Amino acid sequence: MKEEVKQLLQELEEIRLEGVESLERFRLDWLSKKGKVQGLFAKFREAPVEIKKALGAELNELKTKAQLRYDEAAASVKQTSADKKGTRDLTLPGEGFVPGSRHPLSQVRNQIVGIFERVGFTVSDGPEIESDWNNFSALNMPEDHPARDMQDTFFMQKDPDVVLRTHTSSVQVRVMGNQKPPIRTISPGRVYRNEAISARAHCLFHQVEGLCIDEHVSFADLKQVLNHFATEMFGPDTKTRLRPSYFPFTEPSAEMDISCNICKGKGCNICKYSGWVEILGCGMVDPAVLDHCGIDSEKYTGYAFGMGIERIAMLKHQVNDIRLFFENDVRFLKQFTPIG
Ligand code: PHE
Repeated sequence: MKEEVKQLLQELEEIRLEGVESLERFRLDWLSKKGKVQGLFAKFREAPVEIKKALGAELNELKTKAQLRYDEAAASVKQTSADKKGTRDLTLPGEGFVPGSRHPLSQVRNQIVGIFERVGFTVSDGPEIESDWNNFSALNMPEDHPARDMQDTFFMQKDPDVVLRTHTSSVQVRVMGNQKPPIRTISPGRVYRNEAISARAHCLFHQVEGLCIDEHVSFADLKQVLNHFATEMFGPDTKTRLRPSYFPFTEPSAEMDISCNICKGKGCNICKYSGWVEILGCGMVDPAVLDHCGIDSEKYTGYAFGMGIERIAMLKHQVNDIRLFFENDVRFLKQFTPIG
């Protein structure tokens, strides 16, 4: 019997298992109840006690090896049939990698920041939760000033001196307090206003505000830098115009319009058939603001401007509802993927 086991082990080594049929034959011949291995186990019961131990071990080895041969061959048969069925074609190119992209507002913000950085502006940052002083009072809006109503404010219930900033002009107050002129900086960031959400307004949005302070800074400098911005952002054919306006922190103040980039000035519903669309507010920094921030208003002058990133993005990409920027609908965002 010992010889028989040895022979079967040898046979097992030599046997070739290819294809479903030979595999099945092997299972019947070797592993089934009537197969060779079970046959030997039946004989084993009658074997003399003194050889049972050694023989048992050998028999078990044979059984495990036979099962292993079967399992390996079965796995490879399964694989080849999958290959044949075409479920795995190793010559196919890999699946394309779909890159994500920046949010359209981030893309537009980066563009705006880039334009000003290239003409020498630094970028300043500040907190979204601000003191009343930085957001209002330093900017010529004392507590009872009616201009505060222009910017519906979220106040902190516990402390009315703390607000969610309504514009990033608050960052400029901080910069003027910390740095000495010459100052040339822009402050991009998120701002909050207590407004009803509609297609045109949201309770949170984003701004880029700019500030330049030095000796002999004039309104002509302001006009120049804004014209440069408008043509860089909206194309070389863009026309600009300044309309007189009012802001408590600038004097004189203006609003800048660009020729409607959608109808090219002919008139459409975006520009309300005027051919012009407003893009920002600006003016010469009021000397009182400079004084509040510890800058000598006899020696220095400055200009400031501020724009909404959503508004610029809406005009540039012809988006007609500001809410789309906050919904994160992939079908909307996908349209701003720079590649692919
Ligand atoms: N801070 C103003 C706003 O948010 C914009 C502005 C900035 C206007 C600087 C003039 C000068 O409406």
